[in-house]
Amino acid sequence: MAKRCLSLLFLHAILLINACLFVRSHARHHKHTLRRNKRDNCSPTPQPDDPADAPEAAPSGFFDVTKFGAVGDGIVDDTAAFKAAWDAACSNTDNSEFSVLYAPSGHTFMIQATMFTGPCDTEIIFKIDGSVVPPDGPEEWPKNISKHQWLVFYKIDGMSLQGGGRIDGRGQKWWELPCKPHRGPNGTTLPGPCVSPIAIRFFHSSNLTVKELKIMNSPQFHFRFDVCHNVHVESLHITAPQLSPNTDGIHIENTDNVRIHNSYIFNGDDCISIGAGCYDVDIRNISCGHGHGISIGSLGNHNSRACVHNITVKDCFFKETSNGVRIKTWQGGSGAVSGVTYDNLRMETVRNPIIIDQYYCLEQGCNNQSSAVLVTDIVYSSLKGTYDVRSPPMHFGCSDTIPCSNITLSDIELLPAIGEMVSDPFCWNAYGSLDSLTIPPVSCFQEGLPPQSILESGVDSC
Ligand SMILES: *[C@@H]1O[C@H](CO)[C@@H](O)[C@H](O)[C@H]1NC(C)=O
Ligand SMILES: *[C@@H]1O[C@H](CO)[C@@H](O)[C@H](O)[C@H]1NC(C)=O
Ligand SMILES: *[C@@H]1O[C@H](CO)[C@@H](O)[C@H](O)[C@H]1NC(C)=O
Ligand SMILES: *[C@@H]1O[C@H](CO)[C@@H](O)[C@H](O)[C@H]1NC(C)=O
Ligand SMILES: *[C@@H]1O[C@H](CO)[C@@H](O)[C@H](O)[C@H]1NC(C)=O
Ligand SMILES: *[C@@H]1O[C@H](CO)[C@@H](O)[C@H](O)[C@H]1NC(C)=O
Ligand SMILES: *[C@@H]1O[C@H](CO)[C@@H](O)[C@H](O)[C@H]1NC(C)=O
Repeated sequence: MAKRCLSLLFLHAILLINACLFVRSHARHHKHTLRRNKRDNCSPTPQPDDPADAPEAAPSGFFDVTKFGAVGDGIVDDTAAFKAAWDAACSNTDNSEFSVLYAPSGHTFMIQATMFTGPCDTEIIFKIDGSVVPPDGPEEWPKNISKHQWLVFYKIDGMSLQGGGRIDGRGQKWWELPCKPHRGPNGTTLPGPCVSPIAIRFFHSSNLTVKELKIMNSPQFHFRFDVCHNVHVESLHITAPQLSPNTDGIHIENTDNVRIHNSYIFNGDDCISIGAGCYDVDIRNISCGHGHGISIGSLGNHNSRACVHNITVKDCFFKETSNGVRIKTWQGGSGAVSGVTYDNLRMETVRNPIIIDQYYCLEQGCNNQSSAVLVTDIVYSSLKGTYDVRSPPMHFGCSDTIPCSNITLSDIELLPAIGEMVSDPFCWNAYGSLDSLTIPPVSCFQEGLPPQSILESGVDSC
């Protein structure tokens, strides 16, 4: 390696050496996760390259957007450069184990809503060390480009989105649209087109890592994963103001084998939300602040079928959120939420630390319906901290017709942040048991299992 890297040193700018070192160190750390095991670019193997080509040659497999014409002054539209760099990286059939698409620091790249499409011939490391921003608000968004999403990754197998950079969704002008809740004149909500872009979307993709980045102020959800398999989110820092509408941190749907670890998410809506068709999800060491907490749901809308199972939420901290851990379903629908473990969660001034709400309804007067998404096999263990006394710290509002079953509580200790303890947790049609005394005491569970007749008639258990 030394020889080739040194010769690069003499021929090229510092950047290229960094690139070479970066590729090396990345290869060292990630070898075990890579599918392909092609030759290292910095290897001592003699290369046939003509030295005359050298000034143009970065280590093969390294694609710096500024070499593709990106300006990075925050004003010029750099979309074409990113697309060209993507196309080159994606179709790179050199000897690279993977391609690195690089957005360097010291630049702010303005890019339009764009779809980065696979499958690629190699794995992609999309490394953002600079800043990336979309057009500033709905007025600047080109009329002929969809407002549903900004950066979309589609049909990718094997990609890491990472870097020490910053992705700023510039959501302010979207949040202030008069169609957003109470943003109309005198606090009204006006009708009208209200679509706002999701900042980053992965769709039909697998073997994904997203790590280290700072993502802020998305017009809508910050991340959304649909129909993805094997997703690892690590060390993200997501922030948006408390009152920014629909700015969920990470939403997953029809996605399985998900790890979301060691991240900080302070925003205006759900910290993490888990939609239909998700299973084998592990959420660990997340700090959630001033949004709506970690939610499963909402499920069963428009009588849909939803299956969610094997979800773990562990070692998380909730600060001044409206919910801690919530399961929400609409009336109607079918399917089940099962096998959910909440373990070692800390709450600070949380409005509803534990809540199951099977009557979720955004408008007035949702009709009573007799079918429901079953909620079963839910464990709450070691949940401690303080709650806001405006609502009971535990709320199990289950369906009239299909009760919640097998809810287990152990080592629960929830105290009022200020004021008097709310002595009555709320239960409706909830079957469960206590493995240890709880604070406050819960005496409203029905014991045992619901009558077999109910389970046999109404339940589609996925
Ligand atoms: C949108 O319109 C602009 C200018 O009218 C044009 O240059 C661009 O190609 C169009 N983009 C799409 C995606 O149609
Ligand atoms: C807002 O409320 C004020 C005082 O109630 C009223 O004078 C004004 O006309 C209202 N504006 C609109 C746009 O409704
Ligand atoms: C994902 O990675 C695994 C293991 O590294 C590999 O077997 C699989 O083919 C990859 N792609 C998909 C679509 O799972
Ligand atoms: C938990 O996540 C935070 C980032 O939010 C990180 O600083 C900390 O080191 C993580 N803790 C562990 C034990 O990994
Ligand atoms: C549940 O999901 C975890 C990953 O979060 C996985 O390791 C485990 O095997 C799954 N359990 C079952 C029974 O499938
Ligand atoms: C739904 O059921 C509740 C309680 O059984 C009842 O008070 C309410 O009137 C019903 N609503 C409708 C729209 O039928
Ligand atoms: C209750 O739920 C726990 C945890 O998911 C599970 O291990 C247990 O088998 C369930 N019990 C019954 C009777 O289904």
